[in-house]
Amino acid sequence: MNVLVLGGGGREHSICLKLKSSKKIKNLWCIPGNIGTRKISKFEDLNLNQKEKVINFCIKKKINLVIPGSEIYLADGISDSLSLEGIQVFGPSKQASMLESSKIFTKKVCNLAGINTAKWQIFNSYLEALKKIKSISFPCVIKLDSLASGKGVIVAESLKEAELFLKKVKSGQIGNKKSKVIIEDKITGEEASFFFIVDGKSAKFLGSAKDYKRIGENNTGANTGGMGCISPSRFENKKVITKVLNEFILPTINIMHNLGYPYKGILYAGLMFTKKNIYLIEYNVRFGDPECQAILPRLNSDLLNLLLATINNRLNQYKVKLEKNKSVCIVLASKGYPGKFKSGYEINISKNISSKSTYLFHAGTKLNKNRKIITNGGRVLNLVVKNKNLKNAVDLAYETISNIKCENLIYRKDIGN
Ligand code: AMP
Ligand code: GLY
Repeated sequence: MNVLVLGGGGREHSICLKLKSSKKIKNLWCIPGNIGTRKISKFEDLNLNQKEKVINFCIKKKINLVIPGSEIYLADGISDSLSLEGIQVFGPSKQASMLESSKIFTKKVCNLAGINTAKWQIFNSYLEALKKIKSISFPCVIKLDSLASGKGVIVAESLKEAELFLKKVKSGQIGNKKSKVIIEDKITGEEASFFFIVDGKSAKFLGSAKDYKRIGENNTGANTGGMGCISPSRFENKKVITKVLNEFILPTINIMHNLGYPYKGILYAGLMFTKKNIYLIEYNVRFGDPECQAILPRLNSDLLNLLLATINNRLNQYKVKLEKNKSVCIVLASKGYPGKFKSGYEINISKNISSKSTYLFHAGTKLNKNRKIITNGGRVLNLVVKNKNLKNAVDLAYETISNIKCENLIYRKDIGN
């Protein structure tokens, strides 16, 4: 088979590495990729913002399967366009991707499916939200309905914070000004990400993780795409997996089917565990980044077979095997991320740190004119270590990180604590 992975982060590097062990793959492509993916897959300079170009490339290179890494491609309808050309895609249709691209859509699905989620109200615009916010009790959570690169949510402790957020929407600093807004109750608890692979009707558990979202230690500072994670989450056990499957995932799949938007792909449930209950905070329609980097090394099943079984509605015939090993992923990011940062700093890796249980995934890296690795983005490298014991994995990861030298890279020292 000829397979194309779309994206250039650590997530896509880890997907490519896993696919490399599939004997069925003749040519593996990753576009735009990064230094890590260039070593194990093919590359061509292609403008991914133009769907026509992607389709033509797939036809020219006889691509049999496309795996979009990010929600951006899915929300833009890449699955629909490629499927129409007879090219298989792993990921939901544009309509089904609304489970991530529209928070209001997801809340309405939750309503229909009887899914436990925070109470919410819709506002037609930031302006309407600004007018009504004074009558809302705090803390509350304000969310833009549409995708906003992870910036469209604030847990507002006060009226002042809420107004500041909505004013940033007004000035164009956050998200799309035209987006509707939802305001929901704040749920206090601990978050976990649970991943399922879904073939339209059935679902299999694909692992869990705890993401460290804030930039600073002890969960302080700005929200990021994720500064590291551990897998599994401490909440994962058979009873909880069954509960999440029966009370969240299957009712969602059924409703999506009844609505005429059958769901196929990864369904990533962002959950809040309170003392008594589990709440759905959000759905994502793709693998998490960096959760994917920590989970795939624990996967003992052939990833390609699982993806194909999903597309062909045969998921029921497959078993997903996950190692008992625990894993940790530490993200090395450019100083200043998630705000402004500079790129172009040389990275020196003093020895080959990859092994059967240690992985260095690239994200924002590239080669300079002298063929030295330099930083080229916010999140730059991901170090993943797995071990029978989480503490050993964490200790080994921090020991190993000392072999990566770059004056402009930072990382959290408390991942896995
Ligand atoms: P979302 O994009 O909906 O996942 O929101 C981003 C982050 O905001 C989540 O990962 C949570 O940390 C936080 N958050 C969102 N909704 C709530 C809520 N209802 N209660 C508490 N925290 C929330
Ligand atoms: N790590 C969070 C996400 O991928 O959305």
